[in-house]
Amino acid sequence: MRLIRAKDTHDAGRKAANIISAQVILKPDSVLGLATGSSPLGIYQQLIRWCGRGDVDFSQTRTVNLDEYVGLGPENENSYHSFMHRNLFSQINIDPANVHIPNGLEPDADKECRRYDALIRGLGGVDIQLLGLGNNAHIGFNEPADCFVKGTHRVDLSQSTIDANSRFFADASQVPRQAYTMGMLDIVQAERVVMIVTGAHKAQAVHDAFCGPVTPMVPASILQLHRNFILVADEDALSLSPELA
Ligand code: GLP
Repeated sequence: MRLIRAKDTHDAGRKAANIISAQVILKPDSVLGLATGSSPLGIYQQLIRWCGRGDVDFSQTRTVNLDEYVGLGPENENSYHSFMHRNLFSQINIDPANVHIPNGLEPDADKECRRYDALIRGLGGVDIQLLGLGNNAHIGFNEPADCFVKGTHRVDLSQSTIDANSRFFADASQVPRQAYTMGMLDIVQAERVVMIVTGAHKAQAVHDAFCGPVTPMVPASILQLHRNFILVADEDALSLSPELA
């Protein structure tokens, strides 16, 4: 595991964006695993700026997103389809045919999960997977559980995740109770994994994930075993983890 320290959220976003853009410059048809939430927003803004200036070209790039709420379609402003379109895809020169996100409107979970895993395999796997970190150390929507689930699956969201994500909805009752998410094997098979974490409210999750044992009760802890894992974190997020220095 490699730690890149950042001063603050802005600095962390720029540093992580540099890693993603270097990947695309070195391999223009890279498969990028992308994430939602507020953590990657600074990265996306930076990539949009560089793309606009012609410094990075996404015309051949393929993307697979980590997750999507069950029951929300692309036209719903809270869907992750809509989030990605609004915050990245509509502002860079990516071919919409190369963009992939789980289909939250597919009622047959087995069918959708098989489709998504086959799609990732068909793309040749993920070159670089971007992750945020949930308050309970979830990654994608892989919630704390008794075991790691390997492939894409439909998951019941934990109360802590529903509460944390309710800020994007009118109220907590509007937050979908289920999501489709890539599984842990999908994530750890990525050639490189980059996680961005900022803010004191994530400090406990960072400590649990990277200073404690590897356990499915702390999903992000599995990244301790990844050969090419980079944590980009600001001082606040690292405040309870002096041993990571
Ligand atoms: C959601 C997403 C995760 C993300 C997490 C943290 O639950 N499914 O991929 O990492 O939120 O979000 P934030 O970055 O807003 O704290």
